[in-house]
Amino acid sequence: MNNYIAQNRDRFLNELLDLLRIPSVSADSKFKGDMIKAAEYVRDRMAEAGADRVEIYPTPGHPVVYGEKIIDPSLPTVLIYGHYDVQPADPYELWNTPPFEPTIRNERIYARGACDDKGQFYMHIKALETMLATDSLTCNVKMMIEGEEEIGSNHLELFVKEHKEMLQCDTILISDTSMIANDVPSIETGLRGLTYMEVEVVGANRDLHSGVYGGGVANPINVLCEMIASLKDEDGHITIPGFYDNVQELTEAERADLNAAPFDLDEYKKDLVIDDVAGEKGYTTIERTSVRPTLDVNGIWGGYIGEGAKTVLPSKANAKISMRLVPHQTDTEICALFTKHFESIAPASVKVKVTPHHGGLPYVTPTDSIEYEAAALAMEESFGKKPIPTRGGGSIPIVALFEQELGQKSILMGFGLDVDALHSPNESYGLFNYYKGIETIPLFFKHYAKLKKQ
Ligand code: BES
Ligand code: MN
Ligand code: MN
Repeated sequence: MNNYIAQNRDRFLNELLDLLRIPSVSADSKFKGDMIKAAEYVRDRMAEAGADRVEIYPTPGHPVVYGEKIIDPSLPTVLIYGHYDVQPADPYELWNTPPFEPTIRNERIYARGACDDKGQFYMHIKALETMLATDSLTCNVKMMIEGEEEIGSNHLELFVKEHKEMLQCDTILISDTSMIANDVPSIETGLRGLTYMEVEVVGANRDLHSGVYGGGVANPINVLCEMIASLKDEDGHITIPGFYDNVQELTEAERADLNAAPFDLDEYKKDLVIDDVAGEKGYTTIERTSVRPTLDVNGIWGGYIGEGAKTVLPSKANAKISMRLVPHQTDTEICALFTKHFESIAPASVKVKVTPHHGGLPYVTPTDSIEYEAAALAMEESFGKKPIPTRGGGSIPIVALFEQELGQKSILMGFGLDVDALHSPNESYGLFNYYKGIETIPLFFKHYAKLKKQ
């Protein structure tokens, strides 16, 4: 198998580079045509790799690509999930090379989507090709690659509900998360949930002269800033009433386990060029970024931001606010609590509107399952080291839904690293990680089939 990967090394890379050249940004309708192109590219490569029933399924949003290889109905079936859409590449000027002209430097592929998630899901297509070409496939495989993960997977929900039969499986395998380091392999056993909203604060019916009216009429930007500032107290706790009611506190033993993972705070600060970290009092950085909920402003705008100075009292201010959620918070509950609270703290001098964007539930998976064991054995075999279980801070909204609708847990066998700079300018993915993933995935199938038979 590894021979086959070595012999096809360059082609495996070039195919990924071609995929990375397609600017499949799901959030921006300007790229709608490129979304189709990316879906077609994935479909064609999936078929070439040897999958059957390969098809593009349109949705009211961006299409889903599906294919499968059923070799023996008595064997276990693994559903692979990934996403071909990427985050917007803005700000373009901060990229050393253009985001959609993939470039290899220092053994890394630089491009938007290099790691999240094109580089990672494409490993599965190449792993399938490898297993079929070397006659070593040990499970049935189903592959579903969607185009709306980065905007909340809104239409995938209905797709999954309507195609339950087709998606029936014994477990789900996803490479869309990160490890601690190349010499410290790890597997994420949890994801945070998310609720995301946009808020608008409106004052007077028009922009006003800030001398004539200033001091006498509310400035929506000032008001919005005060409202946002009040959402956390001095200890970094979120002040929305009821916000923590359903949060599951970890036991001391669980906390100790979590904090036993290798983590160097000085390295962390050095990498980000910050003098200190920040967050909720009483919790470590590992805890703050995985098992604790958060509230963050993702963007804020209003008023005059052009060249020079304009003396104006703007009539409107806006912000995009998101909250990361942990078990057992739900996005619908927290969205409602936020909306009610935000409206209640608005002074009578302004009007406030809260518009929900998207959300998703948090997720945890146990480490004593056959599928976790298979992933751990696969990584141990390819990395030469037992992987450490960690809790991830990011979100993949469909994972909790898979559990609800298909009754199956997902294994998050990701090969990314923090240095890959997901969602940031100069996103990259290590060539080591790309090939290591292609090598490790067939080992998952091997161990999974064996463990299932026992
Ligand atoms: N692949 C990421 C999620 C991720 C990254 C999980 C690293 C764990 C480690 C995914 O593509 C993503 O970015 N998801 C979004 C959620 C979505 C609803 C916008 C996120 O977490 O912001
Ligand atoms: Mn992703
Ligand atoms: Mn992402």
